[in-house]
Amino acid sequence: MPIERPRGTNDYGPDEMAPRRAVEVILRETAERFGFREVSTPTFEHLDLFTTKSGPGIVEELYAFKDKGGRDIALRPEFTASIVRFYLSELRNLPKPIKVYSVGNVFRYEEPQKGRYREFRQLNAEIIGAPPLHGDTEIIALAFECLRAVGVREVHARIGHIGMLRSFLKVPPADQAKILHCLDRRNFPALREELQRLGLGDLEEALTKYVALHGGSEVLDRGAKLLKGVGTEGFDYLKALAGRLKAYGIEGVTFDLGVVRGLDYYTGMVFEIDSPNLGAEKQVMGGGAYTLAELFGGDAVPQTGFAFGLDRIVMAAIAEGVPLSKPRLDCYVIPIGDGLQSKGLEVLRSLRGAAVSADIDLMGRGPSKNLDYANAIRARFAVLVGEAESKRGVVAVKNLDSGEQKEMSLDALITVAKTTP
Ligand code: HAM
Repeated sequence: MPIERPRGTNDYGPDEMAPRRAVEVILRETAERFGFREVSTPTFEHLDLFTTKSGPGIVEELYAFKDKGGRDIALRPEFTASIVRFYLSELRNLPKPIKVYSVGNVFRYEEPQKGRYREFRQLNAEIIGAPPLHGDTEIIALAFECLRAVGVREVHARIGHIGMLRSFLKVPPADQAKILHCLDRRNFPALREELQRLGLGDLEEALTKYVALHGGSEVLDRGAKLLKGVGTEGFDYLKALAGRLKAYGIEGVTFDLGVVRGLDYYTGMVFEIDSPNLGAEKQVMGGGAYTLAELFGGDAVPQTGFAFGLDRIVMAAIAEGVPLSKPRLDCYVIPIGDGLQSKGLEVLRSLRGAAVSADIDLMGRGPSKNLDYANAIRARFAVLVGEAESKRGVVAVKNLDSGEQKEMSLDALITVAKTTP
């Protein structure tokens, strides 16, 4: 029986890896351009790190196990908790604000479907220690710029504020989390049941109407009227946020008071971006402001961040027909006959040494089969190394796109390979 890959995991061949890598490079470059620096944390952590506050959305989905020393370990389901742990142990000595990003695979034991996997890749960014309005605006601006840089245009970005809902739900944190999960999943029968259990049945109508509010800043006033007794602080904050985003060139943001998020640690602004082209699993990014450091016994410091699902942003880019670069081999070297093997390898070494990507026949094929292979792997030039040409200090170079063939010196070939688009 052939061994199959585990459910919810993926193999990516060269044609799939090329656009994935291209998108990842753009996301990394964008984060660096915004002054974020890369950090790396372990792929597995102590289980407690995630059970403390990530919420059932994550905790029930953990890949958790005991290691050989009997310790409870979990594969990371996300980056945020690890970054906060790292912040408390070391990063807090760095000058503030701390702006960091990471890219890596994360693991969630979910029911797999298109766009929802058990192992997937995230680009995660966090700002720790900046005043909330400044940090939140910068993080939202980075998310928008990531999409612009990749070339994904058809997106819906929605900004909300979980703090207002939390202030409205004056119940112990565990009960609050249950209500918020019902709202996040738009599971209204479960919401009714939960509210009735807590004797809060009279909040049902306000909550149901509240999470349906989305649009321009006018929905913030309507939201404030629905959540009686909580004041307007969070709504005023979102108005100020929209004002500051304008100075970043980001206009006309959509507010969505129904953005609740599946993770339990958010306390302030929350935001999500969807690609309507992706079907059910359309959220390409999620994030917001949170307070994990205090929860882990640290200082009260503002924290905000987001994560892009790399799989999904690549799918969104492909659905929109965004051209993503596919690196091509520059030169495929074909020695004509056994006597030319050493000369062929000499040519190969010179090309590779000059930072031109080059490959050579490893199969002992004849020239015509080698040309077929060079075309099949989409090489740009076939470099035919023959006896007569070698004596004249040249090689025959066939441009595999135009079909044109020319003799040239190796130096000339290197220049051509580096300058031909
Ligand atoms: P999240 O919303 O759980 O947030 O995940 C972020 C993104 O990862 C989602 O928007 C989605 O694109 C992608 N994603 C989630 N689950 C899957 C899956 N099973 N398969 C494929 N892609 C998936 C977080 O992880 C937070 N840590 C973000 C954050 C950082 N908040 C503050 N800082």
